[in-house]
Amino acid sequence: MTANLIDGKKIAKEIELELQSKVSQMATPPTLSVVQVGDDPASTSYIRAKANAAERIGINLTHHHLSSKTSKKELENLVNKLNKTEDGIIVQLPLPYGFESVLDLIEPENDVDGFHPINLGKIVQETSGMKPCTPAGIIELLSRTGNNPSGKNVVVVGRSTIVGKPISLLLLQKGIDATVTVCHSRTSDIQKFCKEADILIVAVGYPNTVTKEMVKPGAVVIDVGVNRTDEGLVGDTSFDVRDVAGALTPVPGGVGPMTVVMLMSNVVEAASKK
Ligand code: GUN
Repeated sequence: MTANLIDGKKIAKEIELELQSKVSQMATPPTLSVVQVGDDPASTSYIRAKANAAERIGINLTHHHLSSKTSKKELENLVNKLNKTEDGIIVQLPLPYGFESVLDLIEPENDVDGFHPINLGKIVQETSGMKPCTPAGIIELLSRTGNNPSGKNVVVVGRSTIVGKPISLLLLQKGIDATVTVCHSRTSDIQKFCKEADILIVAVGYPNTVTKEMVKPGAVVIDVGVNRTDEGLVGDTSFDVRDVAGALTPVPGGVGPMTVVMLMSNVVEAASKK
């Protein structure tokens, strides 16, 4: 079997066109502020992708690029100021050590990353709130490729706050109705669990975490990894998974573009509620 590659770029483009049309009917363009502290090259490249998408959709994005010497107080003051004027705010990670609590100062209705404890709590409660972009993008990818998770065995490898935990909770929600298993670095016999998965979501941040032997023939594999290696950008699954899976998100061009477009969707939603 050779897996169908799920074209995240194409699906993200479809959503982008829907957002463009919504924005064209708004009285004023939505506003998004992106705050960066320091010069992490990966952050700079992610922000460039966000700025390009915002421009295509008609969102006014402002990049606040602060020096690595910026104090926590200065960052807090900026976030507090932006809370009064912006539709959406993101503070790009990674931040200097000890600065991450600043994220909690972003008002939940401006928290277009969906990282605020109130927005994460609303996923548990199944009430409406801003959803974190990568998990929301995965749900959208599954839905738009006809891979309904209802009643399926979904195995999530990774328990991060940004991806593993929220995607597991979203999949459990009524109406999505997956049977979810979460594996992590202390799981014994990960292969046994992965091999049972109809849908396998891998979000750990290490190349080759999931290999061909771990995948059930015909399974849908969502590779969330973004690993910069000497061979270029690779995901968390090994290349030979393509021989076994029924469908697979490539890296790059799978989940990545979905994360960006779901961020834009959150900004448009935030603006339409103001
Ligand atoms: N760093 C890497 N991905 C992300 C993201 O989605 N949001 C923020 N704020 N920082 C990141």
